[in-house]
Amino acid sequence: MCGIVGCIGRGSETVDVLMDGLSNLEYRGYDSAGIALGSQLTVLRRAGELNSLEEAVSADRPSGTVGIGHTRWSTHGSPTDRNAHPHTDESGRVAVVHNGIIENYTALKAELEADGVHFTSETDTEVIPHLIAQSLAAGHPAEDAFHETVDRLEGSYAIAVLMDGDERIFAARQGSPLVIGVGDDSTYFGSDVPAFIEQTREVVFLEDGHRVTATTDGYRVVDKTRAPVEIASQIVSYTAEDTGKSGYDHYMLKEIYEQPNALRQCFAGRADALEGKITLEEVDSIPEPGAVQFVACGTSYHAALYGAAVLREIGIPADAYLASEYALSPPPLTLGTLVIGITQSGETADTLGALREAMSRGASTLALTNVVNSTAARECDHVVYIRAGPEIGVAATKTFSSQLVGCTLLIEQVVDRPRDCRPLIESLRDLPSDVQQVLDSSSAELLVEKYGNSEAYFFIGRGTNVAVALEGALKCKEISYEHAEGFAAGELKHGPLALVTPKTPVFAIVTGNDERARKTLANIKEVQARGAPVIAVTDGQSDAADIADATLMISETHERIAPILANVQLQLFSYHVANALGRPIDKPRNLAKSVTVE
Ligand code: AGP
Repeated sequence: MCGIVGCIGRGSETVDVLMDGLSNLEYRGYDSAGIALGSQLTVLRRAGELNSLEEAVSADRPSGTVGIGHTRWSTHGSPTDRNAHPHTDESGRVAVVHNGIIENYTALKAELEADGVHFTSETDTEVIPHLIAQSLAAGHPAEDAFHETVDRLEGSYAIAVLMDGDERIFAARQGSPLVIGVGDDSTYFGSDVPAFIEQTREVVFLEDGHRVTATTDGYRVVDKTRAPVEIASQIVSYTAEDTGKSGYDHYMLKEIYEQPNALRQCFAGRADALEGKITLEEVDSIPEPGAVQFVACGTSYHAALYGAAVLREIGIPADAYLASEYALSPPPLTLGTLVIGITQSGETADTLGALREAMSRGASTLALTNVVNSTAARECDHVVYIRAGPEIGVAATKTFSSQLVGCTLLIEQVVDRPRDCRPLIESLRDLPSDVQQVLDSSSAELLVEKYGNSEAYFFIGRGTNVAVALEGALKCKEISYEHAEGFAAGELKHGPLALVTPKTPVFAIVTGNDERARKTLANIKEVQARGAPVIAVTDGQSDAADIADATLMISETHERIAPILANVQLQLFSYHVANALGRPIDKPRNLAKSVTVE
């Protein structure tokens, strides 16, 4: 977690470029923020959201022509001024920002303390400036001091370093993302491209082990042995406008409304309607897997549940695993098992850990991700991009919908059984306009007046709609802080029913009119008998709308696509509940967009 920025070559504009970058990276953490400017080293850092730092910057506008910055999601040490980055050595000569975890920091700290070094923070990061300072004190040149220190670090890190009197930025990547932005006469660093998207779209994606020295004349990349590395730059497809709020109150709302376009992009050019075939070329060489194991976390895990349910219906053994569990207690692998990691960011440490565990046991791996060139994309044998565009809101919305479409396309491509995909292709083609219809006509906001002040919210569904029930509850709890739980509808009577009261609305996702739908109707009756109001999220094919107390309608579509529409209704409900409660929707407490620690 955490976000890093860096800028060199912009003269007196440096401080503004850093602050813009931090603002764009705040989704990565908002416990504290700080900047360091050189070449006369000045450090400013503040606990809390970026506005605390902004106030400090406008009160005491620091000058400097080279700089680094950081926005923090706390791992080691509470969110205080003194734990905020950049961290410095005792003399204030070296400033460091860091994303990741230095696993051997206890040993390094003990060694430094034995040498008389005093630590001022509780962070693992602080060992880095002290080690560099020791090396400088031993007479080593700045660049050597940087490399010697990085050589000693174990764990995951993206770091950027500034030294007093030195107009260079030193940076290193190992296990945490770090990208370079290439400007005309300037160089930028970022944990992610939005850090500098207003400045340049030309990007160099660093690999683990790479280290960089940036000067006003450009940058040099070397590997761990300090041998030069050449990496071609790429032009990213999105612009600064794509990462702004475009007039919406929150990124989350903007991203909910971007779904028609995101889904269009995800599907574009990936089907042959005449032939009735999905054409996902990037994976057309993969043979039909004997079994599939999905690994993912949070919202992406719910997409994995959906994918596993679809595959099982087709007749392919499939399971979804929480990545944090899979990494340490992996299930047995049978011959021909494909392990699919679903991860929006492609950087989630738990998911990477699970994928690496699968790789180490010889499994073939595939990443279904949104972020081009992310770690998951680079490490897996295969990659499918969901093409949702940048998602800034901490709560995943458009990427979940796109993950479900990505799963469906992937499944249709790799399953080698004769069938006609025409109905599915038609529904995928109509999906953007069906989502638009939900967005234009949803009564989710009106329901907030009636049910927005409840004791808890429950969500139930069967089959692929279990994933939607769990996702609906996760969305509700993470942004509204209200108690919400999702269940497989059949499980209610085995325990959760005890929680159901007239003050706990139950959202029942009922699509189609098969046995699952009919059995869910029976579950609706069970909760109504306990006095709970029921909101049916339905396409009207069953009697759900007739028996429910309120309804959120979606249009009739393919059974695999209906969960996507139902989920949009639940996204809107959660958003409006949270908004009515005045919650910080884009920055829910204790959370951050991408979790790069285990
Ligand atoms: C939910 O809204 C979250 N953003 C979270 O659960 C997220 O899905 C999870 O942390 C996994 O992230 P990833 O998709 O980037 O791997």
